[in-house]
Amino acid sequence: MKTYLVTGAAGFIGSNYLKYILNIHDDIKVVVLDALTYAGNLGTIADDIDNERCIFVRGDIGDAELVGRLFATYRFDYVVNFAAESHVDRSIENPQLFLQTNILGTQNLLEVARRAWTKGKDETGYPTWQRGVRFHQVSTDEVYGSLGVEGYFTEDTPLQPHSPYSASKTSADLVVMAYRDTYKMPVSVTRCSNNYGPYHFPEKLIPLIIKNILAGKQLPVYGNGSNVRDWLYVEDHCKAIDLVVTKGRDGEIYNVGGHNERTNLQIVKLTIATIHRLMEEHLLYRNMLKKQVKNADGSISIDWINDDLITFVKDRLGHDQRYAIDPSKIKAELGWYPETTFEVGIVKTIEWNLNNQKWVEEVTSGDYQKYYDRMYGNR
Ligand SMILES: NC(=O)c1ccc[n+]([C@@H]2O[C@H](COP(=O)([O-])OP(=O)(O)OC[C@H]3O[C@@H](n4cnc5c(N)ncnc54)[C@H](O)[C@@H]3O)[C@@H](O)[C@H]2O)c1
Repeated sequence: MKTYLVTGAAGFIGSNYLKYILNIHDDIKVVVLDALTYAGNLGTIADDIDNERCIFVRGDIGDAELVGRLFATYRFDYVVNFAAESHVDRSIENPQLFLQTNILGTQNLLEVARRAWTKGKDETGYPTWQRGVRFHQVSTDEVYGSLGVEGYFTEDTPLQPHSPYSASKTSADLVVMAYRDTYKMPVSVTRCSNNYGPYHFPEKLIPLIIKNILAGKQLPVYGNGSNVRDWLYVEDHCKAIDLVVTKGRDGEIYNVGGHNERTNLQIVKLTIATIHRLMEEHLLYRNMLKKQVKNADGSISIDWINDDLITFVKDRLGHDQRYAIDPSKIKAELGWYPETTFEVGIVKTIEWNLNNQKWVEEVTSGDYQKYYDRMYGNR
């Protein structure tokens, strides 16, 4: 039986990963460590935690005393670190928090793991390690900076982050690699492109668009909407992390991406068109519209759900133009490939969203509203 410490599992990708590994591995125990910031929601993982296989602990990955206590209690085989401040716009507003959590928090986890997992020293002075342990860092393609119209990020692409968020994630990766090189610590890193899917916090593009359409609001798009991202369905990302943690090589970095490049404008238009189609097919979904426009026959109109809702807003500072991943390495070594096409994934995502409005309401009360008003004004 393997015991995992999964940090940040009350957030978007971490919660999907938690559900994924509990579902596919019978013989594991998971301790979740999450500070429950605005982005973490206990309701998301309520069905998964507090049973024999999964325990929830609220706390900060930067808290050495707490993390030390967890290591002393549970004898972890794997640490999988999702915990992070993750939103680029917020990092532009408050960079320091990003450095604190993403760099120092990661270093604290590494240090406590190092102390718990080393057994002694070999003849050359390097630490010897408990068998089968692994520290996995969940990273991002944003560490590579921005591409022009052609080319892909490989694992050897130079690191050139631009935002405080991506700079903090890059720094964390470098600290992970420093533990590999200095102590020969068994580590791995995955660098993934933009995810979408269930439990995505509605400050990110796709869930924000869905939320605004239901509210009858305008759909804000940065600049002229030409920025390209490589979109990956979150379950495919979880599968990639599981493969790397359990079968990947020690000390390696794996890029994870979908060959699913779209401009932000394409994403928004496709989301509008898909919602329109789903509302055409399922009358029930129309009742969820807060803006109820009636047709002459008294039925609810959806004619206004079209591209006219798009409104272009001032571009993000330092906005990277294009990200695109070359996933050849993970494909060749571990047989991973993105199973969900964007056309299928976007329908699943929208339907999940429509069927889980209570969750959306829960996570967007309070502070979120203040944040939204600050970013986009009264749109
Ligand atoms: N979302 C993406 O498209 C994407 C793509 C590639 C990589 N990533 C990386 O994946 C990871 C997860 O991203 P996400 O989108 O799920 O993020 P998220 O913001 O949805 O979730 C982050 C989680 O971390 C927790 N957290 C924050 N600070 C913490 C701290 N100090 N101690 C403990 N917990 C803390 C939050 O409460 C939340 O549950 C991040 O490391 C991010 O950099 C995300």
